Amino acid sequence: MPVKILMVCLGNICRSPLAEGILASKLPKDKFFVDSAGTGSWHVGHCPDKRSIEVAKKYGINIGEQKGRQIKTSDFDEFDYIYVMDNSNFNDVSHLAKRPEHKNKIHLILNELFPDENVDVPDPYYGATNGFENVYQMLDEVTDIIADKLIKKYV
Ligand code: 4NP
Repeated sequence: MPVKILMVCLGNICRSPLAEGILASKLPKDKFFVDSAGTGSWHVGHCPDKRSIEVAKKYGINIGEQKGRQIKTSDFDEFDYIYVMDNSNFNDVSHLAKRPEHKNKIHLILNELFPDENVDVPDPYYGATNGFENVYQMLDEVTDIIADKLIKKYV
């Protein structure tokens, strides 16, 4: 059974598809499964935002085949780790999780880099293109730490 990691943002078209693609690129595929989802339903079935696809491609990562989906309650049983991109996602996902062992799986992703500081990965959707580069760099840095921890623990 692979260890399963779920990346979550609001739309599942900008930040969490990048987080999924970048982390998956750092983990052995036979031991880990990485997926992503949104708290909202607007982009179910859509491919990621083309600005996310472009910035990932620039660094050799293909996220173009991902399809948006909404988080569902069975995800709390299925996944071992649920990383959310911002504090608003944290509140939304925490409300969906009914049991303490489910709530314990939810982590604000940048707390792996800046413990207890509760820093958001900013939503780049309405901003300038360099917002996507900025998000990529943040996620690249934090997924180094996450991949290291996971590999030390499970491989
Ligand atoms: P994401 O960005 O949460 O990083 O995927 C968003 C994309 C779309 C919307 C909101 C956030 N939207 O409202 O459509």
